[in-house]
Amino acid sequence: MSSQRTSIHGQWSSRLVFILAATGSAVGLGNIWRFPYVAGENGGGAFVIVYLLCVALIGVPIMIAEVMLGRRGRRSPINTMRALARDEGHNPRWEYLGWLGILAGFMILSFYSVVAGWTLAYVFRSASGMFAAMDAEAISMAFDSLVSDPERLLAWHTVFMIMVTVVVARGVKSGLEQAVRFLMPALFVLLVAMVGYAMGNGEFARGLEYLFSPDFSKLTPTGVLEAAGQAFFSLSLGMGAIMIYGSYLSSKASIPRTVGIIALVDTLVALLAGLAIFPIVFAAGLEPAGGPGLIFKTLPVAFGQMPGGAFFGTLFFVLLLFAAWTSAISLLEPIVAWLVENRGVNRIKGAAAGGGLAWLLGVPSLLSLNLWSDYTLFGKGFFDLMDYTTANVMLPLGGLLIALFAGWKLARAASEKELALAPGPVYEAWRFLTRYVVPLAILLVMLNVTGVLAVLSGMGR
Ligand code: TRP
Repeated sequence: MSSQRTSIHGQWSSRLVFILAATGSAVGLGNIWRFPYVAGENGGGAFVIVYLLCVALIGVPIMIAEVMLGRRGRRSPINTMRALARDEGHNPRWEYLGWLGILAGFMILSFYSVVAGWTLAYVFRSASGMFAAMDAEAISMAFDSLVSDPERLLAWHTVFMIMVTVVVARGVKSGLEQAVRFLMPALFVLLVAMVGYAMGNGEFARGLEYLFSPDFSKLTPTGVLEAAGQAFFSLSLGMGAIMIYGSYLSSKASIPRTVGIIALVDTLVALLAGLAIFPIVFAAGLEPAGGPGLIFKTLPVAFGQMPGGAFFGTLFFVLLLFAAWTSAISLLEPIVAWLVENRGVNRIKGAAAGGGLAWLLGVPSLLSLNLWSDYTLFGKGFFDLMDYTTANVMLPLGGLLIALFAGWKLARAASEKELALAPGPVYEAWRFLTRYVVPLAILLVMLNVTGVLAVLSGMGR
């Protein structure tokens, strides 16, 4: 009965539109900004392998589970979890999973918008041709000067948050389709071209080796957690974004195949970004562990040197901006869906309220990069804390709960029907991964880190 529900927010016009929207959510700053910098901080190859394993063994099953729960519940994640728990005769407190997601969504959107703001600034910087005359050092300094100016950061952060709020207010279905259908392939082509450039002009062999030849001595337990966190972040998992997009999916579409495509595209984009960036990092004598500014300090070096660099640079940052936009939209959507369902507001008010709150939370993030840089917790400023706790604690925790619910609480018949799989190897593999492998892997990764932290703090005493 419950699979006959429809969402009051409407439905995607086809499976392809869902794939586009979910890919738009997944592919974003996480692939192009975050993956290279986190991989660089964790020594490359070994981190990349663990990341790929996490995508395949943890990410894909959870994504299938999220889409499935969303489509079955057809409501905002909070209401979906409560309804499904009731349907199955379980404790309605499963809705707290939805609340965790809303909180994570606010936190991610707040700093995500700050970084998208850097991207906006770099659209104009590239178009002005300013990188042409600059060496790597000057380009690094130009980034530092942007980040040390709270007013400029605030202005770009504000512009981006307005862009996101406007689309979500109008309903995600209208604008998203066109944007993703044309701009995503364009971004992909341009990334491939950048890899081509890195092949000819960067230290490509070194970049390749850095990314793909694993040195496990460089991988710490925290690095393993960060690889898992990166998989969650990049695939948009663990906070209900994919769940709400699943709630707009037609009952006929095959979920596992759809998810396979999305995960594959997302992973390819991240690897291409790495292949474009690290050869330039080494050729320009920069540090792979350069932190969140990494792509803004490396890609402009290439754009400054290549013929037509102002054009390609502008195009690249415009496309990255669109990728960030379609991702940020999916962070705000579950919040707005809940406001519309439970607070009786229309989408415009809901989007303004949600976007406004996320904007406000972004202010301490951008201030932590300059005026408030002295205030730190565990050696991290507010921006880093938001990034770190959401990706490495909240999303894995959300994913763990999603897997436990989908694997253990939802009746077997229900998930079989929703996944439209006759009992067969794909279903069995999904069920096994979701019931055993995913929860155990997430727990081990998290406990492992906690254990090491305990040992470290013990040594400090
Ligand atoms: N996946 C997006 C990226 O890689 C970011 C994102 C969008 C996200 N929605 C999310 C991350 C939900 C976690 C949860 O840029």
